[in-house]
Amino acid sequence: MGSMAAVGTQDSLITNYPDKVSELSEFIAERKGSAKPGRVRGILIECLHKAQELFGYLPKEIQIYVAEKLGLHHSDVYGVISFYSFFNENPVGKYRISICTGTACFVRGADRIMQEFQHFLHVEDGETTPDGNFSLASLRCVGACSLAPVVLVNEKVYGNVSAKMVPDIINECD
Ligand code: FES
Repeated sequence: MGSMAAVGTQDSLITNYPDKVSELSEFIAERKGSAKPGRVRGILIECLHKAQELFGYLPKEIQIYVAEKLGLHHSDVYGVISFYSFFNENPVGKYRISICTGTACFVRGADRIMQEFQHFLHVEDGETTPDGNFSLASLRCVGACSLAPVVLVNEKVYGNVSAKMVPDIINECD
């Protein structure tokens, strides 16, 4: 299992959180027991929700764990995770800052706003600050083009954002 070997013991959620792993294992076994034969795939989303609730995100080792418990391929699990935006492969911060990079926002300077957030938070697109407070991500059009450029902080929408507003948006998170 070359892929598992790539996960250092220190970083392994499975090694570090045996209680959570056993809770997940019981949850999966229970759901699997109630699934109709041949319908295991139908309970996959429930199991992934449970795993994300326990660990906060779904890194590769957890994806493989769930796949093995359900007798599925890793690619089946990965396909579901990448399809649904509420599943996260990477750790997510307390404040999820999302910058719309759809066309309307892009032409009004979304990339400049992204750069400004990167500058202030010292993280790249898709990363989380080491203190776990902020995640930075780009999004496709969020359907508020008349407010472009748009930034979301968790569920809160900021419209007509300029680079100058970035420090204030970050400060409002505290
Ligand atoms: S392009 Fe950003 S809201 Fe539509």
